[in-house]
Amino acid sequence: MLRKSLMAVLAAGSILALAGPLQAESPNGEGPLFENPREAVTWRREELKSIERLVRQLRFDLVNNRDARGAEPRLAELAERASGESLLPAFIEGSHGRGSEARPLIWEEWEAFEAGFADLEARVAALREAAEAEDYRLATRELSDLSLSCRSCHRRYRY
Ligand code: HEC
Repeated sequence: MLRKSLMAVLAAGSILALAGPLQAESPNGEGPLFENPREAVTWRREELKSIERLVRQLRFDLVNNRDARGAEPRLAELAERASGESLLPAFIEGSHGRGSEARPLIWEEWEAFEAGFADLEARVAALREAAEAEDYRLATRELSDLSLSCRSCHRRYRY
């Protein structure tokens, strides 16, 4: 039993190691491990939906309630989840097609796709700074810029 599951983990590991772009992303095997591309697609879609909910809650915290303190734990969570380190390993090469809205272009332009997440991280950091300074006008602007960052990637890489 134990042996069997160990084998499964090892097998998953070697499949991941074969997926080109992934190698650069998680050389130490950190982040979620996926048994197969379909599982990665399911995970990333759920994850992106949670991220969307988190951003919506932050808009409520910062724009409606002007509550930087309440926003802080959500901002910390967003910084962790809306990042290349967390999301890129789920974009296993070739995991597009049925059940996914990802365009194959992602793997043709992997570096540009990665850069989209670097931009996202920068936007989240800027939002966090504005919230820490309790500058709600700036936070409102940063939230718009954050949404632009989401949308500009979607325009190019999502159906
Ligand atoms: C660098 C590219 C990139 C960035 C940045 C990005 N996304 Fe996405 N997003 C994608 C791709 C690609 C898909 C399609 C994934 C799939 O279906 O396999 C997607 C799908 C989604 C989905 C649909 C999930 C589902 O299946 O219902 C939501 C919601 C979403 N993203 C929200 C966001 C939000 C909110 C942000 C910004 C905070 C964001 N994304 C930033 C690339 C990106």
